[in-house]
Amino acid sequence: DQSSEPVIIGARNNRVARLPLMKAVNDTRAVAKFTKAKEYEKAVQARGRSFGEMLALNEVMSTPPQQDELPEGARRVAIMHVGGLAPGMNTAARAAVRQGIDRGFEMLGIYGSFEGLMSGNVRQLAWEDVEGWGFDGGAELGTLRPIPRVEEYYAIGRALEEQRIDALIVIGGYNAYLSINQMRQETSRYPAFNIPMICIPASIDNNLPGSELSIGADSALNNAVWALDRIRESAAASRRCFVADAMGRHCGYLSLMSGIAAGAELVYLDENPYDLQDLASDVKMMRDSFRDGRRLCLVLHNEEAGGRYDREFIASVFAQESQGLFDVRHSALGHLQQGGEPSPFDRILATRLVRAAIQELSGQFAENRSEPLGVGLSAQGIETFPLLQMQQKVDPKVRRPLNQWWLPLVDIISVVSRDEWDIEVRPLPITDL
Ligand code: F6P
Repeated sequence: DQSSEPVIIGARNNRVARLPLMKAVNDTRAVAKFTKAKEYEKAVQARGRSFGEMLALNEVMSTPPQQDELPEGARRVAIMHVGGLAPGMNTAARAAVRQGIDRGFEMLGIYGSFEGLMSGNVRQLAWEDVEGWGFDGGAELGTLRPIPRVEEYYAIGRALEEQRIDALIVIGGYNAYLSINQMRQETSRYPAFNIPMICIPASIDNNLPGSELSIGADSALNNAVWALDRIRESAAASRRCFVADAMGRHCGYLSLMSGIAAGAELVYLDENPYDLQDLASDVKMMRDSFRDGRRLCLVLHNEEAGGRYDREFIASVFAQESQGLFDVRHSALGHLQQGGEPSPFDRILATRLVRAAIQELSGQFAENRSEPLGVGLSAQGIETFPLLQMQQKVDPKVRRPLNQWWLPLVDIISVVSRDEWDIEVRPLPITDL
């Protein structure tokens, strides 16, 4: 009977996945069997598809090229950042340089986004130039937010031609995607834009089209939870409600995930509009709970959620309605969320996304194509999508994807923080392997 078959629950391609236990045990035993028989290739295969890919990738990233000379006619591929800072931008740039050189490309760094490109701040990047970049926060190439204005297109086109740039890799946030999307609609007037252009998602907001996760979001989450854990310790010493703002602009990913990880009782998101009645019922729940002995109520608010019902307003309502049962403090978690070294997850995500981008570039060069694409992580793995379809994937007013896979997780907050039995929980999809 299939329903009684033991299974293990794991994660695959950003989805919870179910796998028959005996199959997993047999596959794991097969690795030992192949290793013992010195059948190493089969052992690697038995470990799973991505294991083999990562092994090959590690080789490329850690072995300097055998020849210093570039192949004749090597394509010149330029890398730049556009948008707000995200930890892992450096890791992605380093990965692009090393994997690009491995494919025989000449790799160039554009320092200072589009402004840097227009002023000719472009330098060749050799394998050793990016040593150490993989593990540092910040962005060695610099990152600026401005989207080029139409009046700047001529200068950008000239710069692309003068630098003989054959392809662009843009590692950045929403403005990076918008910039490339807009520029590509002008190829008939600016033929220099007709080169392969690939966007790689890097934003702590995790609000980019075509990718369920963007580089930097995991590091920001770690930073936010680190700060919330400290707030939790300090606040639990008295009877206190603490309202914290997480970054993300209109996208609630960081707020919700850090709320879940830090054990928040309430999370206010732009995706889930709330009104005065909601605040009144939440503060009533809080009063009941403090009356029953609660010492801390942690509340997460997404920085741009609720319009005028912002963090300060929510904190004022709670303070006014606390009836002396608890006090209220509030603050923004602030720029610590953007800083620090990229987390191991972000480093690996960056390396894998770049791998797909470089592979795609090789294909486009070989077939003489020049398609603008975004790469991303989906439920199916790492995929690309045509950047000109961006408009169909996002809500431009709030600059976030129309479908956000993580939204059903909102229910978890209510389940763990409320003493009620009738909370409806939306099921999360589980992949059968
Ligand atoms: O878009 C990335 C982001 O970190 C947002 O989450 C945040 O609101 C904003 O940038 C902060 O911008 P700045 O670093 O310019 O203050």
